[in-house]
Amino acid sequence: MTNTKKEIFRETVTFIKQWARNPFQMGSIIPSSRALANLISRCALDGLSDDCIVLELGSGTGRFTKSLLDAGLSPERLIVMEVDPTLISFLKHRFPNLTIIQGNAAFLTDLLPKESIGRVGVIVSGLPMLSLSSVVQEKVLQSCLDVLYPGGSLLQMTYSPFSSISAERYGMCKTYIGCAWSNIPPANLWRYTRKVEE
Ligand SMILES: C[S@@+](CC[C@H](N)C(=O)[O-])C[C@H]1O[C@@H](n2cnc3c(N)ncnc32)[C@H](O)[C@@H]1O
Repeated sequence: MTNTKKEIFRETVTFIKQWARNPFQMGSIIPSSRALANLISRCALDGLSDDCIVLELGSGTGRFTKSLLDAGLSPERLIVMEVDPTLISFLKHRFPNLTIIQGNAAFLTDLLPKESIGRVGVIVSGLPMLSLSSVVQEKVLQSCLDVLYPGGSLLQMTYSPFSSISAERYGMCKTYIGCAWSNIPPANLWRYTRKVEE
């Protein structure tokens, strides 16, 4: 087996083990495909202002993380948050130069370094939005709005054919980006931005 194949095997086994321990928290049995990771990283970096950073929520084994770095985002401009301690160890080993925060995204505003608040241009979310309780979902989305740069956006994947976030409720506009058909299962990507007051 080549090193890349070994790495993918190790990653997939780690992911499946964590899914078996906590299926609702994981929301998926295997990591996202490269096609979905590339779609999300292209969208995240398109037009990202130089003084803004990217925040990734629910990084898992780091599929989106790797794609963002491969697409040219410098490690100092990426902060990763994940709740599962086993996946945190995996991520720290895989990306030793990154800021990786262990915690629940519902407490994002307390966990994020203070100097990053308001500098987050894009939030890339792999969180299983539809498996979160309504209380946690509300806290996560409110915190996202609190840390985002005024013109910033949240990119959220979902396996649902519909938006997994009721944008209106949070004063956001939603835009459908597209579907990664080769993902298992196929995944849709949406962008959410704060509504501009008239
Ligand atoms: C569907 S997996 C996505 C993993 C990775 N982004 C990918 O696409 O392969 C969801 C991830 O969100 C994490 N997660 C779930 N709830 C969370 C929360 N409240 N705060 C932070 N991470 C959470 C899970 O532990 C899991 O790693």
